[in-house]
Amino acid sequence: MQTKKTIFGSSEHWQAIQLRNEFLRKPVGFHFLTDFPAEEKDWLRFVIMDENDHVVGCVVAIKKNKTSVRLRQMVIHEKYQNQGVGRVLLSYVENELQRMGFEIIIIHARKDAVGFYKKTGYKQDGQEFIEVSIPHFAMIKSIVVPEAIKPK
Ligand SMILES: CC(C)(COP(=O)(O)OP(=O)(O)OC[C@H]1O[C@@H](n2cnc3c(N)ncnc32)[C@H](O)[C@@H]1OP(=O)(O)O)[C@@H](O)C(=O)NCCC(=O)NCCS
Repeated sequence: MQTKKTIFGSSEHWQAIQLRNEFLRKPVGFHFLTDFPAEEKDWLRFVIMDENDHVVGCVVAIKKNKTSVRLRQMVIHEKYQNQGVGRVLLSYVENELQRMGFEIIIIHARKDAVGFYKKTGYKQDGQEFIEVSIPHFAMIKSIVVPEAIKPK
């Protein structure tokens, strides 16, 4: 498996959009996308690919302010779920965001996925709420690197 950042409009970006459509948007009744969403130009986009360079998982990061960032649209292809692929992608993304100087990651987690984020170190922040017609919980994780282990 290979992790990477994607370029807006690239083949990997399009594959990620198709994955999001299939496993996140369609199940909640959203229409299929036929073009690259313009707002994604400002987002950071990350994917994980199999040995044939097919995107099997993806997530986007949206800067909130200088220190915090929100992850959205995290999904792993059904065929690859529960095999540690999501954990690998999330860990890569957290390292990248840490290197960029972010300190806090926020996620609006679908209720069914809360267990995954808890396993990867996120804490529930507040009560259940409804977003895109399904129950969610805000989750938060600090990715501050302790001074003692910062590279000199
Ligand atoms: C949620 C999702 C991203 C997790 O990715 P994944 O590759 O299946 O997860 P992993 O295999 O890396 O799991 C890591 C750990 O979390 C656990 N886990 C995974 N999904 C879980 C879930 N939905 N609930 C509870 N625990 C879960 C795994 O059992 C594993 O635990 P372990 O380390 O003790 O073995 C993926 O299942 C998915 O795409 N689901 C559908 C879309 C979705 O809900 N996305 C999230 C939107 S907020």
